[in-house]
Amino acid sequence: MFKLITILAVLPAIAFSASPMSTCLRTSHPLPTAVFFGGRVSPCLAEPCSVFRSVGSGTTYIDFTPNRQITALRPELRARVIGLNIQHPLPQDMQDNPFNYIIGSTNPIAANTPVTFNLTVPVEPDTPLVSSTNIFTLFDQNNQVIFCYEIATVVRA
Ligand SMILES: *[C@@H]1O[C@H](CO)[C@@H](O)[C@H](O)[C@H]1NC(C)=O
Repeated sequence: MFKLITILAVLPAIAFSASPMSTCLRTSHPLPTAVFFGGRVSPCLAEPCSVFRSVGSGTTYIDFTPNRQITALRPELRARVIGLNIQHPLPQDMQDNPFNYIIGSTNPIAANTPVTFNLTVPVEPDTPLVSSTNIFTLFDQNNQVIFCYEIATVVRA
């Protein structure tokens, strides 16, 4: 009996644990539904979230539900470090074919359909071992923000 109660208490925590995120600074842009920094199996649960040079890449799954039909996508990743806001280049294929990085959807995405963006970015061996705030924004066909979020990160060896 006690074991069963323990399992029932722990299950929702496992199923619904997502990473922390904040609204983008000085904006009122919508947040995504949930962010899984480091993957769905063991997402980062407390900031700063680590990315590892030794791994060579970092994956974040971002669940979102657009409230309108989406016919074009433009992902943008920025890093804020010591007050500077720097654009972080995304893989060329992600810029050219962003719909290929939407899991479980077609192009266009119908309004009110829950989908997931697979944000996998390389972590180069010479990436400085610094803390920064990562800001990820997804724009639609009218250059309107679908969602934006910030997360504190640190690059580790
Ligand atoms: C996300 O993208 C990476 C790199 O392209 C790939 O290895 C991984 O399998 C993708 N994940 C899913 C769930 O499609």
